[in-house]
Amino acid sequence: MSKPRVVVTRKWPAEVETQLKALYDVQLNDNDMPMTADELKQALQTADALLPTVTDLISADILSVESKRAKIIGNFGVGYNNIDINAAKTQGLVVTNTPHVLTDCTADIAMLLLLMSARRASEGDRLIRNQQWTGWRPTHMLGQKVTGKTMGLIGFGRIAQATAKKAHHGFGMKILFYAPSQPAQHIIDELQATRCETVEELLSEANFVSLHCPGGEATRHLINEQRLKLMRPSAHLINTARGDVVDSKALIKALKEGWIAGAGLDVFEGEPAIDPGFLELDNVALLPHLGSATEETRVAMGNRVLENIAAFFAGLEPNDRVV
Ligand code: DGY
Repeated sequence: MSKPRVVVTRKWPAEVETQLKALYDVQLNDNDMPMTADELKQALQTADALLPTVTDLISADILSVESKRAKIIGNFGVGYNNIDINAAKTQGLVVTNTPHVLTDCTADIAMLLLLMSARRASEGDRLIRNQQWTGWRPTHMLGQKVTGKTMGLIGFGRIAQATAKKAHHGFGMKILFYAPSQPAQHIIDELQATRCETVEELLSEANFVSLHCPGGEATRHLINEQRLKLMRPSAHLINTARGDVVDSKALIKALKEGWIAGAGLDVFEGEPAIDPGFLELDNVALLPHLGSATEETRVAMGNRVLENIAAFFAGLEPNDRVV
């Protein structure tokens, strides 16, 4: 029997690509350039599985291409707001993602950004590189203490809970959260966490606000000008979720005018384009969407896609089916 044909949209870790070559008739992307809409359509017409990632926009138009051969989309990423899920459902396509394996590394990046923002790490690094450091002095570059402060998490799924554990057990932080559904009681007990009834309540109480909700229409600009004004002037906003959860223009205004002390961002509206307003500010730490970017995690994400499509081609239910 001939091997299923799969198309991979971007370069993957070498060890996973080796597996793909052994198991499938695979089209890899050695030059790692994003595929165009037409190329994605063609992939759906010629392959049994399309393996895109979070930066490939798989729109309703692409999904409705005539004469599709593909039956499954194995997304390399836990977030799948890049795929029009309703259209995939209508087209009878199975969609899978890669949960669990990136939880800790993404939580690490949330803590990294929190520390960078609180302790002015990016600013200090720039000072040294620009040869402007004149030496230690008692009032130089004072930031804010992290240990013992209050962290507020908006969204309380796996990554939020992992972040809260690091903050609570590692830094003695008090945990507040806002989430549409109630988490298991043992998690609340372990973290001595308090559930806020509203986003507004959380914003006004937390020293550090960390965002963990999925992107897309439902959460677009959840953090807007009105809500930023509710935060404490000494508070920091951390976003490792999706860029569109925050209104960038409002955040730039908040940072410039001192409504909040700082921000740490790993994701951006319209990334990789960055609003130039952020580049002029010293009180924002910026990272290029590094949440899951460790060798171990990216290999594990690739393996998770392999397991999902292997199950599908064996006639079984993939573990990480989202549609
Ligand atoms: C995801 O998987 O959704 C991240 O944004 C990239 O790892």
